[in-house]
Amino acid sequence: MIPIRTSSLVDTAARYPPRVETISFARGIPAPECLPVAELAECARAAIERDGKTILSYGSSAGYAPLREWIAERHGTEPGRVLLSNGSLQGFVFLAQRLAPGRRVLVERPTYDRPLKILRDVGAEVVPVAMDDEGIDPDALESALRDGEPPAFLYTIPTFQNPSGRTLSTERRRRVVELAAEHDLLVLEDDPYGLVRFEGEEPPSLYELSERRVAYSSSFSKTIAPGIRVGYFILPLELERALEATATATYITPALLGQATVHEFLRRGCFEPNLERVRGLLRARRDAMLAALERELPAVRWSRPEGGYFLWLELPQSVPGTEAGGVTFVPGTDFGGGANELRLAYSYVSPDEIATGVERLAAALPVAV
Ligand SMILES: Cc1ncc(COP(=O)(O)O)c(C=O)c1O
Repeated sequence: MIPIRTSSLVDTAARYPPRVETISFARGIPAPECLPVAELAECARAAIERDGKTILSYGSSAGYAPLREWIAERHGTEPGRVLLSNGSLQGFVFLAQRLAPGRRVLVERPTYDRPLKILRDVGAEVVPVAMDDEGIDPDALESALRDGEPPAFLYTIPTFQNPSGRTLSTERRRRVVELAAEHDLLVLEDDPYGLVRFEGEEPPSLYELSERRVAYSSSFSKTIAPGIRVGYFILPLELERALEATATATYITPALLGQATVHEFLRRGCFEPNLERVRGLLRARRDAMLAALERELPAVRWSRPEGGYFLWLELPQSVPGTEAGGVTFVPGTDFGGGANELRLAYSYVSPDEIATGVERLAAALPVAV
């Protein structure tokens, strides 16, 4: 029999402590159970069987006509103003390439990091405009419009903003469109989260308040599935034509199979029940995160989103990188925010993991309680 040397077991345990699984509050993606896998499989098959000769070929660079028509009807506009792209971010690239090089572009501070990078890459001058719990500050917007060259556009995410989770109040929405009219400003309203509302009253979209001044973008990434890559823009007719030309030059035709699959999903009446299901799954996560923060981090300020994926923390001191206590998050500086701010996404992990993650964060963050 081989004698067991307990001392070596102790050494090994000390050298290899049990691995703590990382909990990600960094990933702004849906929990896997949000994805309607079986329904989408059926819809993709049905779409090919029904309209395969169209969707498996090249087609319009503005996207699958029946889906353009559905979106136009939902937003009370004409299909010619709707551009479908491979995710709304692709459409944003087209818009930035067309309008932003060498121009000022106003953005909220903080704002979604990818558009920030895209704007810088095309040579725009990014001008951050202050915001608070009620969304972008209209007085700061007015100053930014008065000082300097007229901007190419204002990029705003007024509802359940990425990264802050904040929503622009109705009163401020009215001020923003008034300022847009006064200064002949194009506003791009990016609204992928608006329908992912758990409670509270829905404010009018900026687009509803001023179809003339506001270009609107949204996506089926948060309401159906991001992997299907179907985003859309509602644009002034001339701008739609210009972006369609950029789309032709970039990919000839967007991915029609995904668009036809989304259309089939809508046609079958799957959209509303799926959205209700997704709202329930995400509401449970948001609730778990708010409850855990109240329990564990009373000295910290955070936003209280009524929907969407994110909330925003303001610490009394600087954020230590991108990880603390085996929990990952995105530092506020990635979004143009302060060194003491950070974004937590509650969309991906389970409510139990959220409780554990916030507990670990509270133990690891240098926050005076
Ligand atoms: C504010 C905002 N806009 C656009 C996108 C990108 O959406 P899509 O998947 O349609 O490209 C995201 C994704 O997280 C987002 O948060």
